[in-house]
Amino acid sequence: MRAMKNYPYVITVSSEKGGVGKTTLATNLAIFLKALDENLPVSIFSFDNHFTVDKMFSIKGQKLSGTVADLLLETPGCDLLHTGQYGVNYIPSSTALNDLRGSLKGPMVLARLLAMSNISGIVIVDTRPDLDVMTQNALYAADRVLVPIKDMASMDNCRNIFELFDKRGLDRKSLTLIPCLIDERIKFEGLFKDQKTLLKAFAINRGYRCSDTFISKSPKVESLNTNPDGRIYPILTHGRGTDVYSQFTSLGQNAIKEYYDTKEPRALLFDSWQKEEDQRKKEAYFGRLTGLKSECLVCGKELKQDSQVSYYCESSDGAASGYVESDCFTGFLISAIFRIERELPADDPTRMMIDQTARESVFVLNPGEGESPGSIDFHRFDLSGSSLLKKTYPLARLPERDGFSGIVEGTLAGYEGQLRDAFLMVHPVSGENPASILVEENYREMVKLKKRIASQL
Ligand SMILES: Nc1ncnc2c1ncn2[C@@H]1O[C@H](COP(=O)(O)OP(=O)(O)OP(=O)(O)O)[C@@H](O)[C@H]1O
Ligand SMILES: [Mg+2]
Repeated sequence: MRAMKNYPYVITVSSEKGGVGKTTLATNLAIFLKALDENLPVSIFSFDNHFTVDKMFSIKGQKLSGTVADLLLETPGCDLLHTGQYGVNYIPSSTALNDLRGSLKGPMVLARLLAMSNISGIVIVDTRPDLDVMTQNALYAADRVLVPIKDMASMDNCRNIFELFDKRGLDRKSLTLIPCLIDERIKFEGLFKDQKTLLKAFAINRGYRCSDTFISKSPKVESLNTNPDGRIYPILTHGRGTDVYSQFTSLGQNAIKEYYDTKEPRALLFDSWQKEEDQRKKEAYFGRLTGLKSECLVCGKELKQDSQVSYYCESSDGAASGYVESDCFTGFLISAIFRIERELPADDPTRMMIDQTARESVFVLNPGEGESPGSIDFHRFDLSGSSLLKKTYPLARLPERDGFSGIVEGTLAGYEGQLRDAFLMVHPVSGENPASILVEENYREMVKLKKRIASQL
């Protein structure tokens, strides 16, 4: 029993070679699975735009809502399933997939979507003759990948799939080659007496796992696409008594056995991995918050919720961190960096300009290379880490009223009044929610920026 939430067992049919029988295999396997085990939910969708799945499974007059494009756009999979012919559920195909290609960030998107799909039973995914990002997603999500091969050329081609599996750290054992479109009339002299024996021997020789069941080339199957109704008939109903019928029965039985033997399908594993990841991120976030004062380091007051911007300071080793109010930091820039002696009111144009520049910059302060001990190098970078300005100023001669210099000194203080080899980075943050910079994705970005800047110092 897979209680509470449902996780599908995913079979992907894939080969880079066109016309090897992928779609015929995917659609007919779905139908045989359902016929062999009527209580087992079987669903299918295709990343191809041939609409074969739709021609085969749609029911006349059925109202359609949603396609595979919606699946990729985060609609829960279970809401997209349509009850189809032969008891197979299907998600309608889409012509819009090409446009979505760019929005698929990486190969793990479909795995995540299927993990959240709440679909139960077996899902079959038909793919295009291509190793594009769609197919890569279908491969990554699969518990079992069936790779039809019909000749040496298609076997050569499947090397790329195996290499992709190695690269992604996926288990090669989930890949199965199936000799398809085998012409049983062709016989050879010698050791390999026919096509399927030859292909299988080559596959095993290359370390590929090959199915014992193969699929014959059958004029009957070929004819199922061509009829006055414009439909595509299944082997189950229209190919009784043929070799192909018993071959699909045996493929289906194997798949069902594997399904019941798989206690934890990839979708479930992916879901628990994702939950652990979320938990880890949350803990890391709270770890960063621990010990971080919510008040301004300079004036000691709570950060103003209504200010547009505040500043987050962190030492290069991450040991010291805290927030600085926008007013306090601008005050430091005005007095220490621009050496403006008088106080500038909030609506002073110079102050407003400095304010504006500051919130679009990142600042770094480190012990200066200059001759005088205790001098500080002040750098301004843009938010992508390009250097915009460098200035050296003496720490000792700073005006009293500027509290930020005390923070700099405190952070960079080393032994015996010397400054240590470290820097303090000052990064603008949202005034409303200053802690958002500590959330995993944002923090990771900031650390990247920090490294980029460190390499330039
Ligand atoms: N066992 C078979 N015997 C005879 N013809 C077959 C068999 N399987 C598939 N065919 C025919 O071969 C052609 C290609 O099959 P199919 O569309 O399943 O291949 P495909 O790999 O999905 O192609 P594509 O790469 O274009 O998506 C079709 O015309 C189909 O009817
Ligand atoms: Mg196809």
